[in-house]
Amino acid sequence: MRRISGSSPVPPHLFRHGGGSAPSNRALDFSTSLNPLGPPASVLAALRPAVAGGDAIARYPDADSTALREHLAALHGVSPRQVVVGNGSSELIQAIPAAWRPRRVAIVEPTYTEYLRASLLAGAAVEHWLAEDETFSLEPFEPGGADLVWLCNPNNPTGRLWPRARLRPWIATHPRTLFVLDESFLPFRPDEAEHSLVGGIEMLGNLVVVCSLTKLYTLPGLRLGYAIAGLEQAERLRAQLVPWSVNALAQVAGLVALRGTPFLSETHAWFLSESSYMAEALECLKGNLDVIPSQANFFLLRLGEAISTCPTATLSSHGILVRDASNFIGLDARYIRVGLRSREHNRLLVGRLHQCLLPERGLEDEWGESLR
Ligand SMILES: Cc1ncc(COP(=O)(O)O)c(C=O)c1O
Repeated sequence: MRRISGSSPVPPHLFRHGGGSAPSNRALDFSTSLNPLGPPASVLAALRPAVAGGDAIARYPDADSTALREHLAALHGVSPRQVVVGNGSSELIQAIPAAWRPRRVAIVEPTYTEYLRASLLAGAAVEHWLAEDETFSLEPFEPGGADLVWLCNPNNPTGRLWPRARLRPWIATHPRTLFVLDESFLPFRPDEAEHSLVGGIEMLGNLVVVCSLTKLYTLPGLRLGYAIAGLEQAERLRAQLVPWSVNALAQVAGLVALRGTPFLSETHAWFLSESSYMAEALECLKGNLDVIPSQANFFLLRLGEAISTCPTATLSSHGILVRDASNFIGLDARYIRVGLRSREHNRLLVGRLHQCLLPERGLEDEWGESLR
């Protein structure tokens, strides 16, 4: 990893996200990395009576999300007091630097830009660390004077996974630095438990793990996320949150979603099948497109030097939205990110990419099938 200088002042386009402000209902949206299987039917079924009864709306919600915290604690084998529930993981990401007031922060780039925004809002000076190689391999580095280090596992937008065997000793040998590990995309993987640092978190007093329920259960409109940390750290974070920030419907949705085991196993089966399908299908575009090896439910793609126009606009004219990843620190206009969807939609995307990047090949190959 090498340190790169930060840009100051920070241009607002850095904080542009996927999804657009009002994407058309008919667009196929590969720009956000949400679970295409959700929201779970059980969640929708539970929300209808919760809304119809009126109480969930006419009363203040449980400010401590007690039932949800207890459920999450049991799931992760920690005390409920170690769990902090937030209005999306975004609320927690925002609250962490506000609670710890770090003077210096290190961010492993390219990554989710809200870590930068939250750090700057808390008045921190930010150092950016960038992987040396073209596939953005993640490696521990000497955080030096950083009071807080942000890590994302698997990392958005690269899809790279930190090996736990490297992460844990690194964190343990820097007890004065607070490490914030965002595992929002980890539950898509059936082997989540092998990679997560939640197990054994009580041994690491300088670690806060953040996770989103928005992505896995497709609840971006309701918003739900949580953090797990040692008792002291959890209390410190909790004290920073807005009262009643997690609304009653989100609490109902979270509880029902977390009980829905068939949904999770279906998601894992979908993830395994579509991630390997996409990796193989995109490999056929090698030379025009490099695929960054991903362990997540999205792929970062690098367009070949010869491609003068980014296919984003062409794809959009066909009703396909992809994430223009040029505004991530350390990336440029060659990069786009695509989230995995259903097999039918993934085929369609690959077909359109073929058409866009290899127009001379026409539609007479197997991908053309998907466009007819
Ligand atoms: C890595 C990562 N963490 C957290 C979030 C925020 O998710 P939410 O606030 O919906 O839980 C996002 C959203 O894109 C993300 O990419």
